[in-house]
Amino acid sequence: MKTIVRGGVIVNEGRVVKGAVVIDGDTIVSCGPDADVTDADVIDATGCYVLPGVIDSHVHFREPGLTEKADMESESRAAAAGGVTTFFDMPNTVPQTTTLVALDEKFCLAAVKSHVNFSFFFGATNDNAALFSQLDPHRIPGIKLFMGSSTGNMLVDSDESLERIFSEAPLPLVAHCEDMAIINRNMEACKACYGDDPEVRLHPLIRSEEACLSSTMKAISLAVEHGTRLHVAHVTTAEELQLFAPHTSQITAEATVGHLFFSLTDYERLGTRIKVNPAIKNFRDCLALREGLMDGRVSVVGTDHAPHLLSQKEGGAARAASGMPMIQFSLVAMLELVDDGVLTLERLVELMAHNPARLFEVRERGFLRPGYKADLVVVRPDSPWTVTQNVIESKCKWSPMEGHTFRWRVEQTFCNGHLIYNNGVVDPASRGEAIAFR
Ligand code: DOR
Ligand code: ZN
Repeated sequence: MKTIVRGGVIVNEGRVVKGAVVIDGDTIVSCGPDADVTDADVIDATGCYVLPGVIDSHVHFREPGLTEKADMESESRAAAAGGVTTFFDMPNTVPQTTTLVALDEKFCLAAVKSHVNFSFFFGATNDNAALFSQLDPHRIPGIKLFMGSSTGNMLVDSDESLERIFSEAPLPLVAHCEDMAIINRNMEACKACYGDDPEVRLHPLIRSEEACLSSTMKAISLAVEHGTRLHVAHVTTAEELQLFAPHTSQITAEATVGHLFFSLTDYERLGTRIKVNPAIKNFRDCLALREGLMDGRVSVVGTDHAPHLLSQKEGGAARAASGMPMIQFSLVAMLELVDDGVLTLERLVELMAHNPARLFEVRERGFLRPGYKADLVVVRPDSPWTVTQNVIESKCKWSPMEGHTFRWRVEQTFCNGHLIYNNGVVDPASRGEAIAFR
């Protein structure tokens, strides 16, 4: 049986046109103003926009090993409800995804549990570069490198190891850049003044702009030296952004929804809920990131969806866990920035679907094209709703967005041609698939 999503406005590949998407099985068969079919299930998208499903290239779904915080079923359910049809998960799980066996285990778990499509980053350590040549480039997006320590203690801190990783990485290297020597020095100074667990508003002074800039500069210079394909995760400062040339492909930057949405003054209201590494910084930095969306210095918007239990978020800059859930609200949050004139709808689709697909060479997804997999999302503007605890699908059951009224809502999400989310309900039987690269 075919399905037609008709009556909506399609946003795809720089164009905004009224039209339909026709789906047969798991594939798009036609798309655009003339697309039509008889004898099909009809989704009436009148008044809505139809976009390619979001590809979130930066999430922490916590499975295996940290499933008190989250798991692949719960977080992929949140993804489906948010219009996200593919996620790439990070390696700081337990065990860490730093061996081929651990990587395989994640694929097996996801095949059984995930409602949306998936793949997994391999984690670099000080001594596992020898495994790089055994990684299947058609199966995973890249290699994650922590040049700054965060949840999971995956810091790679030896210069010799970094040289080897940058020179031998056969896949895109995604780097978390924060200089630990600077951070440790700042933390000691802060503790000397304010005690063992300084207030969270000091977090951006400890995990400072200087720490980010220093580490990002080092990563870029290593990438230039070795010709590495480098993607810097969650860039947070105006200064770092200056290091990226617009619209290039060897060295690219990601911005996260949290860093685009929040800034310094929000610590007062949200406290450790917005404690994240790298830290949320000044409004000036937030504005620079927003400018980077349109000027091309930012290539991808991801969430860094990183749930913790609220009990683990207790304490201050030293004790509270870093990271926040976001995946369920990333698309509607970014659509709000479109309303606010920060970016265009076409650019949003590029940053959240086309570019993750291009940068990581995802096969047959990320665009609404005949022959591509039918991953798409229907969103309605001017339809206000407020985030309350009962709508949160993430296992941790809290969000920094609680109490926020969004203007847009996700009405339907299709993944591999299946309607996996429909007006508040995720199909419990839906399962995504491993995606293919290159
Ligand atoms: O705040 C963060 N939380 N930053 C990271 O890099 C990791 C993440 C997590 O896994 O909790
Ligand atoms: Zn992360």
